[in-house]
Amino acid sequence: MDETSDFQVALGLRQITMVIPPHSSKVKTAFSFPPEPLSAGRLSLSHLLKLVGKWSGWLLRNHWYLMAFPVTRLRRLRRTDQLRNLVRETRLTPDAFVYPMFVCRGEGVRKEVRSMPGVFNLSVDEAVKEAREVHSLGVPSVILFGLPDKKDEVATGAWADDGIVQQAARAIKSDVPDLILMGDVCLCEYMSHGHCGIVKSSSTPMSLGAAARDALSARRGVAVKRVKNEEEKLKVIDELASIVASVVESKFEIDNDASLELLARTSVSLTRAGIDIIAPSDMMDGRVAAIRRALDEAGFSNTPILSYAAKFASGFYGPFREAADSTPQFGDRRSYQMDGANLREAMREIELDVEEGADMIMVKPAMPYLDVIAAARDRFDLPLAAYQVSGEYAMIEAAARNGWIERDRVMMESLQSIRRAGASIVLTYYAKEAARLLA
Ligand code: PBG
Repeated sequence: MDETSDFQVALGLRQITMVIPPHSSKVKTAFSFPPEPLSAGRLSLSHLLKLVGKWSGWLLRNHWYLMAFPVTRLRRLRRTDQLRNLVRETRLTPDAFVYPMFVCRGEGVRKEVRSMPGVFNLSVDEAVKEAREVHSLGVPSVILFGLPDKKDEVATGAWADDGIVQQAARAIKSDVPDLILMGDVCLCEYMSHGHCGIVKSSSTPMSLGAAARDALSARRGVAVKRVKNEEEKLKVIDELASIVASVVESKFEIDNDASLELLARTSVSLTRAGIDIIAPSDMMDGRVAAIRRALDEAGFSNTPILSYAAKFASGFYGPFREAADSTPQFGDRRSYQMDGANLREAMREIELDVEEGADMIMVKPAMPYLDVIAAARDRFDLPLAAYQVSGEYAMIEAAARNGWIERDRVMMESLQSIRRAGASIVLTYYAKEAARLLA
């Protein structure tokens, strides 16, 4: 007690402002020492107890105060690189990375994606070269997306034996057998309308062409308008497009249950071609169960499913849709991808996928949804992946190319944040670059 009061006297303080630790932002002010003067004379038992209570509370608070600065100095462990390395809580290693690749037809094709500098559409032969490089950098896995020659309304390119991803998978598997091949299972890249499932009319089935014709005939006035110049022409085209979109949207919906069959068929076809992990990203209800059943029936009970369990409808997918040519031709994906506002619903999505048999789960995008990653880590014991999506990559690249941020530093910081939030696996367009820096 004496020591304490001496200390305070030395500081010349009667009133101390203190921050209550830990995890509390409350600032508590003004407790003074001693809490209550010990008065001479008779002490009743209740008075004594009250005093004990007050004094012990005071001691606890002051004890904390004394243990902190100057005794505790967190900067001691930040002094050198070696010390910082020793106490680092989150470590980045290339074996956590999965590198996304976009495969297209042709030979010797290496076409840079406009909104994703450094990312390419690759023909199968080039994809094999890229896969070799990825593997040699210590990155254990790639995830394949396909750009088919033709699109239709049943996504033939997704499940055909000679589909583009199937071809790439066979080629890569025979050249780099140790590389883990993930197959993104979705229909949007292969559908003429760009949606992730089968589109049907709310009432009777109708082709998109028919719906568009209906829309136009209902508004003939616009269609026959004379245009005088280029600008006006563009305006009319925009107008027409929005009319078609609104009519089509109001009449159509994405048929959940009918899409499951195609997703299951795609998964089996990809596995046959050599894909090691099936990663459904379509967000149809029940697809994990449907895929699990189909894989098992086809004799692939050892093929794991990495479910894009909590996939949010996000503006951050913009550059990907350019890379994979999968922008929806009308409407958007909000009727199947999640509302970005919902954390609890994300937990339900994950829970359902786990019940349906997912072996691993994913949260996507990553950086705008780090809290979802953290919550998922807290609640579920499956391996957890997060996808640093195209828009996250594009933002960093754009700012770096303008000289506004330090690219490498921001790249590593962004990846670290995803791992710190709790993801053990990170799908990222930076996989190669980051692995190079970590080597
Ligand atoms: C397919 C799919 C998308 C992405 C991964 N799988 C696009 C989308 O849902 O619109 C996005 C990946 C990225 O933005 O990098 N459905």
